[in-house]
Amino acid sequence: MQQFESIFQCPVCASAMKIVENKSVVCDQNHTFDIAKQGYVNFLTRPVRSEYDKDLFEARKIVIDSGLYKPLHSKIREIMGEEKALKVLDTGCGEGSHLSHILGTSSEAVGVGIDIAKEGILSASKYYNDIIWCVGDLANSPFREESFDVVLNILSPANYIEFNRLLKQDGLLIKVVPKSGYLKEIREMFYQETYSNEQTVERFIERFQQVETFELSYKIPLNQALIQPLLRMTPLTWNKIEADKEIHLPEISIDLEILVGRKN
Ligand SMILES: C[S@@+](CC[C@H](N)C(=O)[O-])C[C@H]1O[C@@H](n2cnc3c(N)ncnc32)[C@H](O)[C@@H]1O
Ligand SMILES: [Zn+2]
Repeated sequence: MQQFESIFQCPVCASAMKIVENKSVVCDQNHTFDIAKQGYVNFLTRPVRSEYDKDLFEARKIVIDSGLYKPLHSKIREIMGEEKALKVLDTGCGEGSHLSHILGTSSEAVGVGIDIAKEGILSASKYYNDIIWCVGDLANSPFREESFDVVLNILSPANYIEFNRLLKQDGLLIKVVPKSGYLKEIREMFYQETYSNEQTVERFIERFQQVETFELSYKIPLNQALIQPLLRMTPLTWNKIEADKEIHLPEISIDLEILVGRKN
């Protein structure tokens, strides 16, 4: 982390920050954020209640590690290009598996993940110690302007003003949004309404230049062991699952749109 201390900026007063004795990140005005023993930094200035808990993040890790999103990870790697030493920030990174799989083990890229849910970052820092993990608000992030070549925003809320600030001049924003068929077998079990991403896509196009979009749709046969984690990985299905109900789910649909924009 010491090597990359220049990427940090105080979320309270916006002044530069230093890593002190590998124990805390401290700004010029002495606002101090401790480095936890697991290696992550908590930049929140007040506690935030999250609907995402430990169980949900464990479930997401099992599902992502199973390879369900492998085509997404490969496509994002392809979009980011060949340049090795990219600085990549994942905003709303959850438990960190997407970022870790995207960068891969041999990558020279520098990965940074931020999420407002401490349980997510705790899990990320336990499993992936070659990435810088931060608890923080992506709308008021603890990073200096023009610090990143790539900002990722996968199935998470966005703040385009902040993403623009964080990107280098020719930086790329890569946002992944669900399309109507995403996990539709589960949606059909629990709700009637269909999902539309129209407004999200419109907002992205208004705010970023040279937008390219890629659609990624596939079905994967489901190993029965993945059914419970798949149901547990979204807060939307909570309280709606009867514990011992047997669920038949032979396959699952992934239907995503990848929006790629250049900094304005
Ligand atoms: C649906 S989850 C997606 C997580 C991860 N990208 C994935 O695909 O597994 C949305 C994430 O956005 C995070 N989030 C929501 N608001 C946030 C904010 N203001 N700042 C940072 N993270 C936020 C949540 O804590 C949660 O981890
Ligand atoms: Zn400060």
